[in-house]
Amino acid sequence: MLKTKWIGSAAAVLAAAMLQGAIIPAATGQSASPDARAAATEAAMTEDERTLLTRGIVAIPALVGPLPEDAVIGAGYVPGIPRLGVPALTETDASLGVSFVGGMRSDGATALPSGMAIAATWNPELANAAGAMIAGEARAKGFNVLLAGGVNLMREPRNGRTFEYLGEDPLLAGVMAGASIAGIQSQHMIATVKHLAFNNQESHRHDVDVKIGEAAARESELLAFQIAIERGNPGSVMCAYNKVRGHKACDSDYLLNQVIKRDWGYKGFVMSDWGSVPGVGAALNGLDQQSGSQLDAALFFGTELAEKAREDAAYAARLRDMNRRILRSIYAAGLDRHPPVKGPIDFAANGALSRQVAEQGIVLLKNRGDILPLAGSANSIAVIGGYADSGVLSGGGSSQVHGADGPALIVPMGGEGITAMVLNQQYHRSSPLKAIAARAAVADVVYRDGRYISEAVTAARQADVAIVFATQWQGEVLDAGDLNLPSGQDELIAAIARANPNTIVVLETGGPVVMPWLDQTAAVLAAWYPGAQGGEAIARVLFGEVNPSGRLPATFPASTAQLPRPVLDGLATAKPEIIRSPGARPPVPVDYDIDGSDIGYRWFARKKQSPLFPFGFGLSYTSFSQSALTVTGGKQPRATVTVANTGKRAGATVAQVYLVSQAGRDTRRLAAFQRVELAPGESRRVTMSIDPRLLANWAGQGWQIPGGTYRFVAASSAEDPGIAAQVWLPERRMKP
Ligand code: BGC
Repeated sequence: MLKTKWIGSAAAVLAAAMLQGAIIPAATGQSASPDARAAATEAAMTEDERTLLTRGIVAIPALVGPLPEDAVIGAGYVPGIPRLGVPALTETDASLGVSFVGGMRSDGATALPSGMAIAATWNPELANAAGAMIAGEARAKGFNVLLAGGVNLMREPRNGRTFEYLGEDPLLAGVMAGASIAGIQSQHMIATVKHLAFNNQESHRHDVDVKIGEAAARESELLAFQIAIERGNPGSVMCAYNKVRGHKACDSDYLLNQVIKRDWGYKGFVMSDWGSVPGVGAALNGLDQQSGSQLDAALFFGTELAEKAREDAAYAARLRDMNRRILRSIYAAGLDRHPPVKGPIDFAANGALSRQVAEQGIVLLKNRGDILPLAGSANSIAVIGGYADSGVLSGGGSSQVHGADGPALIVPMGGEGITAMVLNQQYHRSSPLKAIAARAAVADVVYRDGRYISEAVTAARQADVAIVFATQWQGEVLDAGDLNLPSGQDELIAAIARANPNTIVVLETGGPVVMPWLDQTAAVLAAWYPGAQGGEAIARVLFGEVNPSGRLPATFPASTAQLPRPVLDGLATAKPEIIRSPGARPPVPVDYDIDGSDIGYRWFARKKQSPLFPFGFGLSYTSFSQSALTVTGGKQPRATVTVANTGKRAGATVAQVYLVSQAGRDTRRLAAFQRVELAPGESRRVTMSIDPRLLANWAGQGWQIPGGTYRFVAASSAEDPGIAAQVWLPERRMKP
C-alpha cells in the first residue's frame, strides 16, 4: 500500500516536471545516491539557477508583500527549479508543533509540551514519535522543511528560550534532539538542528560575542550538536545570531567549515537564522543558504554571489558545493518524490500523544507525607492562580503554536507592530481547573484567580487542599530578569502556604525558578509548558491516574548567586527586538570560559555547592532501587545496573550513570541513561552504552581518554552518591 503511494507520488512529480518541460538529469534515477543525484542536478543548472536555492525569503505577506503561488505562509520560502524537478522549500518553525507565525496563518496545530518537558521524559522514543507527529501536521499544511531541532544547552537559566531547548547536558539534549530529528525526517521532511552555536541568551542576541576555549566548546554545546547530528542526520543546520570569538556564527569559518564540515563530515547544508548574514563572504566561511533575506542588510546570496562566482574560483567552487549540499538534503529526505499533501489533521490522536509527553515530562519535586496522589483524600479543593480556569501557558516567539481552536486566552505583553503580535502570553485550551473538578467527584472545587492575595488566602483557608498554579512566561528575544516567579506569585504562594499546610504548587515555567516558599508547601510539581492537553496531564498526575516519572533536565539553583554569571550580561540594556533594527552596535562580550565545559550540574559539582533541586531529580508514587553496577571498558564501554521497583505501584524511573572520577581527577558527567518502566516488585538488569567522548577530554586535534581508573556511580540524580563501580581504561585517542 505504502509502496504504491510512494511510486504514485514520485511519478506525479516526474510527470509534472516533464509537463513543465523539466530536464531530469540522467543520474537522478531513484536508485542513485543523494550525492550522485545532487551532483547531476547541479551540473545541469544554468548560471541563473545556481543562485535560486541559495537564498530564501520571509514567507509572511504582512512583512514582505504577496508570496509566490507555491509558498505557504510560514517562516520562509526558497524557490524550486521546476525545469530540473527540484521542489521549492516551504519552511515552518516547529520546535513544539507547527507554529502560527504571529497569527498570520489561522489554522491550528497540536502544541507539544515545551522542550524542557520533552527532555524531562528522558524518553528518546517518545521524542521520536513527537517529531514524526509534528512533521505529519506540517506536511498536511504544505511544508517540507521544519526549523525544528533546537539543542542549545541551558548555560543560562534566565535565557528566554530555555523552554524551547532540551536542558543543560550534552548527552541528554543530543540524544533527545537526534531522536526528534529522526522522527521528523521519517516523514520526508528536512529537519534543522539549531542554533549553531552558543546561542544561550536572548538579551542583545545579535551582538553577544562569546568567548570560549576550544576544549570547553567541544566538550559542551558542540558535543550536543554533534550527538544530535550523528543520531538524527538532519538535512540542515541553522547557524545562530550571536558572534563566537569575534565572528558572527553564520560567518564563522571555525564553526561552519572547520567544526561541522571538516571535523564532523557534515554533508547537509547550513542555513542562516533570519537576519544573521553580514555579507557575501559568509559563503566562503561555510554558509550555504541565506534565509529570510529581507531581514539582512542586502540579498547577498543572489546576484552578488553570482558575480563573485564569475570572478573568483573560490566562490565558484563554493557555489557548486552550496547547491549540491542543498540538493543532497532534498534528495536524502525524498522531498522531490514525496511532496507534502494538504489534508486534515487527526487532532484527537495527536493531542493524546502530546498529553503522553506532558505526563512523562512532569516532575514531582516534593511530596510531603505522600499528600499526592489526591485520590479521594480531600473534600474541598481551592484552585488558585495561573489562569487555571482557562488553560495552560505556552512560550512566546517564533515557536508559538496556536491550538486546534486557537488559544483559550491571550495576555498582551506590550510592544508595537510585529513585536506585539509575536510576543504575547498564550494559554492552550486545556483547563486544569476543569480537569481537576472532573476528577474530584466528592470534593468541592473553588477557583480564585490569585490577583488579590487576601481573597485567595481566604479560599485556601476554607479548603482541605490548596492547589496553586504559578506561571513564569518566557519568550524569544526576552530573558527573564531573575529566577523568581513574576508578578508577586512568590508572595501569593507563601501566604497561601501559611493559611493551608496542604498547599500543592504546580509550576508552569520555561525553566528553573527559585522557591523561597518551598519549606512551607506540601508538594511541588514542575509541569513546564505542558502543551495541548496539559491541564488533563496535570490532573491525571495529581489524582494518581499517572505515576510521575519526569526527571529534571537541568539544575534548579537555590539563587542566581550560585550561577557562573550571577548577573546576566547585557540584561540591563536589552530591548526586545523581533527584527533587528539596522546599524552597527558594540559587541556584548560574554565569557563562557568561566564555566567552560562545566555547565549546570557540573558547575555545581566543581563549586561544591548544593542547588535547590539537582539535575536528574524527580520523585514517584512508588520507590526504586539500583544495585549491582558493573562497567566494562574496550572500544565500546558499557554500564549495567539492576533497577527495581520496590513500591506498590507501577512506575517508571531513569537509570542514570555518572562518571565521577576520570583517571584520578574528580568530575561529574552523565555517561549513560535509560528510562525503565517497572511493575511493582519487578526488577530488570539494564545495559547502557557509554559514548567514549564522555570519558575523554578534548586535546588539541581530537579526543583523548587518559589512561587510568574510571569511577562511575548509578544514581537517582547528579547529587545522589549512588552505588559505585570502576574500570581501568588504557589511554586512547579519538578523532573529532
Ligand atoms: C529564530 C529561529 C527561527 C527563525 C524563523 C528566528 O528569529 O531565532 O529559531 O527558526 O526566526 O522564524
